[in-house]
Amino acid sequence: MKFSCKTQTVLWMVAVIFMISGMPVRTLSQSSPLPIDIAILEDPLDVLRLVNRDNLLDKDYPDQTIDMYKLENVTLPVTKGSHQLRPVANAALEELFKAAAAEGMELYVGSSYRRYRNQEVIYYNRVKRMGYDDGYSQMAGASEHQMGLAADVVSAEYADLFQTEFGETPEGIWLRENCARFGFIIRYPEDKTDITGVRYEPWHLRYVGPEAAAYIMENDLTLEEFSALRIIALGEYYGDALALEDESEP
Ligand code: DAL
Ligand code: ZN
Repeated sequence: MKFSCKTQTVLWMVAVIFMISGMPVRTLSQSSPLPIDIAILEDPLDVLRLVNRDNLLDKDYPDQTIDMYKLENVTLPVTKGSHQLRPVANAALEELFKAAAAEGMELYVGSSYRRYRNQEVIYYNRVKRMGYDDGYSQMAGASEHQMGLAADVVSAEYADLFQTEFGETPEGIWLRENCARFGFIIRYPEDKTDITGVRYEPWHLRYVGPEAAAYIMENDLTLEEFSALRIIALGEYYGDALALEDESEP
């Protein structure tokens, strides 16, 4: 059978369309278990990083040659000593202190950035004194204080004590109810010590950014739980690519 040139072209086009329509098409899923923009969940500022005894920081973190990690001096009221934080957390903490002062709360920074070596000494001394790891201090590499994104915030009355009763004082309650507005979470909640492995610390604020902080605090989550949801959200967004990679694994 002979076809004209025009008919042959049309037949080729039909064949190509038929072949393409039978191919699996890789699309990015837009569904997400978290109501947070994917650009935030990708964490370009490295503020969502999960740090705990299973997810340790390197000795030389945070890299001081990179602007966003460069530690700045804290100029807020402190219980003692000098303090440093990453710029994003420092600015947010200043705003938090301003808002607290406007509501009559007098807050102090009790602890902030700690070098790996410092944490090593703190952990060693605690374990030596107690005879076991009681969840009071994190081992070196597991402390968010090394990130420059965590600050222990207390009142004058609890400046030296670091007792869990601080959580029921006006300052402790204010921190819990308001910290998310400034991008902070209460990282070690009272009822989740089995997940965090750390005792209740109503003073330990960890900067994660306002979007994540709002979700975490509204839903009573730990960063461990949020991180699992974040992995699922990213996995669903890039679902096909991840599924294809998975198939090649033994
Ligand atoms: N006290 C907290 C858990 C730390 O050592 O980082
Ligand atoms: Zn702390």
